[in-house]
Amino acid sequence: MTALSPPRTYRVKSFGCQMNVYDGERMAELLSQQGISPAPDGEAADLVVLNTCHIRERAAEKVYSDIGRITKEWGRNDGTAPLIAVAGCVAQAEGEEIMKRAPAVSMVVGPQAYHRLPGMIAEAMGGGRPVDTDMPAETKFDVLPARRKVGPSAFLTVQEGCDKFCTYCVVPYTRGAEISRPFSDLVAEAERLVDAGAREITLLGQNVNAWRDADGRGLEKLIEVLAAIPSLARIRYTTSHPNDMTDGLIAAHRDIGKLMPFLHLPVQAGNDRVLKAMNRSHSVASYLAILDRVRAVRPDIALSGDFIVGFPGETDAEFEDTIRLVEAVGYSQCFSFKYSARPGTPAATMDGQIPPEVMDERLQRLQTALNIGQLAFNQASVGKRCTVLVERKGKLPGQWLGKSPWLQSVHFFGEAAIGDLVEVELLDAGGNSLAGQLLHPAHA
Ligand code: SAH
Ligand code: SF4
Ligand code: F3S
Repeated sequence: MTALSPPRTYRVKSFGCQMNVYDGERMAELLSQQGISPAPDGEAADLVVLNTCHIRERAAEKVYSDIGRITKEWGRNDGTAPLIAVAGCVAQAEGEEIMKRAPAVSMVVGPQAYHRLPGMIAEAMGGGRPVDTDMPAETKFDVLPARRKVGPSAFLTVQEGCDKFCTYCVVPYTRGAEISRPFSDLVAEAERLVDAGAREITLLGQNVNAWRDADGRGLEKLIEVLAAIPSLARIRYTTSHPNDMTDGLIAAHRDIGKLMPFLHLPVQAGNDRVLKAMNRSHSVASYLAILDRVRAVRPDIALSGDFIVGFPGETDAEFEDTIRLVEAVGYSQCFSFKYSARPGTPAATMDGQIPPEVMDERLQRLQTALNIGQLAFNQASVGKRCTVLVERKGKLPGQWLGKSPWLQSVHFFGEAAIGDLVEVELLDAGGNSLAGQLLHPAHA
């Protein structure tokens, strides 16, 4: 391989969860700091970072089809193929295999090592094909450049990794053990995000409510301190695990006005035998008891969750328990997935793998039940007045799109700007959004 000229433009494409999106933003900032510019939409880029997700087979395989397409479509300005970096959880899980399977790939970097990208790019330009899937002791957060420009709603990763080892899940392998970032670093990063334009911060972690600092302070303490930042209007957190839902965090939903009334608390299934086989370490009853406690302190809280249908051995009757749970809870929005066997996880070799057509049917039934619940939740909001954080322009002239406190999409017409918090009356509800009327065009 001959030496390549240095990349002048980049594109980062993120495929995964919100933490993966956050990593993508940090990689983009790092590349910009190195003097490489973001490629304009639709134009060729000299360096393409595929920030991959390994959670389900479809997501993981997508990277290989993308590599083929990019090599063809996104050639460099001088006609040569772009440098391709594979980052994210597929990089962590498959490392060297990617290099063997996809000769067009120039470097592979895991989610804990991407602060080393500049050195890897230099190596790739010299003809090398570096692979870095270390989980180094030094943290990337100490090395990455400070946040500069963000939208009104920003992500902040506070916790990484997972110690729960649900039997279907790759995250403990791709992201490593649970670690919490230090309190003072997080407050400093939140302040910078607010200075850079954020009005809302969503605290992120694979198990965000497992966040603890060295003094044993829990997530509610961090939320309390962040709530004192004057121009920060809203705080959210995701994803939580039922076992880490402490009294202190529940009380924060009563005591901290800036903490939004929304809780994403995945249950995965509505049957105790299935939950046990999943190694979820909560039961249906203990999960429902948490929801009761949260609702007691914050009756209007919007609830959300994740579901897996067709876990190995799941019977029709066990699946029906999931439908019953959904109908009992009244979720505002949820994610639901067909079980996908992941290499190296215990569930992949369990007896009773469910045929695809049964999974399809179950997913369809579950999604119908979830959609009915979501529409009912939205319809119950009609007539309410609430603040909306304006995130972007709508499709129609003069229309704006934003989020209600309950994370519903709301569209309205009138005088507003991105980043405003406006007062809106909710007039009409669909399954995925609500129409609102601007009450007074307040520039907050
Ligand atoms: N830490 C979070 C979620 C992590 S992954 C939690 O425990 O809730 C996001 C979601 O992907 C999971 O909640 C689960 O519903 C889904 N998921 C994970 N592994 C999966 C698999 N092998 N097949 C299908 N869905 C899966
Ligand atoms: Fe995966 Fe379970 Fe950990 Fe969530 S708690 S990341 S589903 S192992
Ligand atoms: Fe996917 Fe990794 Fe997130 S596997 S869901 S990108 S933690």
